[in-house]
Amino acid sequence: MEKIRAVYPGSFDPVTLGHVDLIIRGARIFDELIVAVGDNPRKKALFSMTERVSFIRDAVSGLKNVRVTPFSTLLVDFARQEGAHVILKGLRAVSDFDYELQMSLINRRMAGWLETIFMMPSEEFSFVSSSLIKEIASHGGDVASMVTPAVDRALKKTPSRAKRIKSRRKPK
Ligand code: PNS
Repeated sequence: MEKIRAVYPGSFDPVTLGHVDLIIRGARIFDELIVAVGDNPRKKALFSMTERVSFIRDAVSGLKNVRVTPFSTLLVDFARQEGAHVILKGLRAVSDFDYELQMSLINRRMAGWLETIFMMPSEEFSFVSSSLIKEIASHGGDVASMVTPAVDRALKKTPSRAKRIKSRRKPK
């Protein structure tokens, strides 16, 4: 039987335990899971691409069918190039739905062969987002229960960087 390869895309700035939870769930369902780290043009990243990729690699090193790679093309082109027919996305709450529906339908318009599948992270992480993590860390708050130890250390080293980045966030 043909192997099912899925792409889990995101900006992962930084990866949270909610993302890791979804990667673990995805790795159980799909034969191969590619975590694709991209830049969201609507957000100014706090961490470099190299840092974001390395945080995820560090977190999922025990999962043999998971690969982490940066991408800078259209997601549909990346999926085609990787031979993946599935996009995996996380849905935390109804508030995610509008944006995710729009993205999945526009990707379908561009690539009808690509199916988007949504999975819910554990309710333990349903309120966790990278933006809130950065906001809390920029004020010196404790995010250790919501991120990996490496991300926690990096955020502790960079609260002033988080603050600087926040103040020059791109206008909507
Ligand atoms: O975690 P995010 O910030 O929601 O991730 C967004 C990301 C990187 C997955 C999205 O911006 C993306 O797919 N970028 C690649 C360009 C693309 O294909 N955009 C969708 C059609 S406009």
